[in-house]
Amino acid sequence: MAVTLVATLALSSAALAQDEGVERDYQIPLPEAPEGEVTFTPPHERDLPDNQYGDMVRKGRDLFVDTQSLRGEYVFNDQNCANCHLDAGRLANSAPMWASFGVYPAYRGKNDKVNTLAERIQGCFTYSMNGTPPPTGSEPLVAMQTYLHWMSTGAPINESLPGRGYPALEEAEQAPDRARGAEVYAAQCAVCHGDQGQGQKVGERQVFPPLWGDGAYNWGAGMHRVNTAANFIKANMPLGKPYSLSDQQAWDVAAFINSHERPQDPRRRTLDTLEETDATFHSHHGFYGDEIDGRRLGDHADFGENPRPLDG
Ligand code: HEC
Ligand code: HEC
Repeated sequence: MAVTLVATLALSSAALAQDEGVERDYQIPLPEAPEGEVTFTPPHERDLPDNQYGDMVRKGRDLFVDTQSLRGEYVFNDQNCANCHLDAGRLANSAPMWASFGVYPAYRGKNDKVNTLAERIQGCFTYSMNGTPPPTGSEPLVAMQTYLHWMSTGAPINESLPGRGYPALEEAEQAPDRARGAEVYAAQCAVCHGDQGQGQKVGERQVFPPLWGDGAYNWGAGMHRVNTAANFIKANMPLGKPYSLSDQQAWDVAAFINSHERPQDPRRRTLDTLEETDATFHSHHGFYGDEIDGRRLGDHADFGENPRPLDG
């Protein structure tokens, strides 16, 4: 029985693949944005309908740009979703939300299973927001899903659109270097993000996000990977001057930022030692567990403000 079912499934997906003339495994990865011109345009907010759907979209948009309104409940650092998904999630090459709705459910190596869109959003809460994800079906999550759904109006299903994710840089010519990165940082980033990476506030409002320390993304977040940060930085930073850094500068400054302390990887809770956490979850390009200036990064029990990372 099981064999027949598998065979039937294999046959029907083979037929689908044949129809399109491409082999596909339905496991579209991130972060590579496919080559090609960005042609998709999300709808305008002024065209939102004045009904319950429209209200839910507006609520999702508000939460996306002011995620701090969920501080203390679901968010435990100084971030808003729009810090890393610019222009309220509309900007191409800044992991835009219109390119993500149609590609979930999708397999993710990060947790080795098929993730729904809700789970993908919850992932950014756990790591990028150092938070506790809103439960499936709760209003904040439904609002965000509705916002993403609306933004994707007219986008194809199960196609990775040009402009998705952050465009992948070529390997650096010279190995990314923290000391060179510190110079780039001082000259081009510190003015907004602060000389201690602490960001900047005007009154209570965070205007420039912190890049390390307790207010930043934690050690489990995609952005702590040197390659992901380099890709993001090249296409999006310094703010207002995209693509102005050389590839080498983007790699170097990403290495500099990501070799600073930040809240512990919440998955550390599930394992006994730093070594185990490093070996299980960090086989990628990052500094977690490395010795820098005589101290091992991630060798602490500081989960930032989050009182209950992972265990609810
Ligand atoms: C500190 C930066 C950061 C913040 C803040 C952040 N994200 Fe992300 N997000 C990323 C990165 C990096 C990726 C993808 C790259 C990866 O997974 O390696 C991503 C991917 C995603 C994706 C999948 C995109 C795709 O095309 O597959 C969704 C959906 C998403 N984020 C939603 C959110 C939401 C909603 C919030 C706020 C609750 C948020 N993110 C906050 C960095 C961030
Ligand atoms: C003019 C001010 C400004 C400058 C200069 C600037 N940034 Fe940013 N940066 C921002 C703002 C604002 C955001 C959040 C995005 C938004 O709100 O549009 C941001 C977001 C980020 C993020 C997203 C991660 C997070 O934790 O939120 C990174 C990484 C980053 N900047 C790195 C850099 C680097 C590296 C440089 C220097 C090469 C730089 N920035 C220069 C203003 C600036």
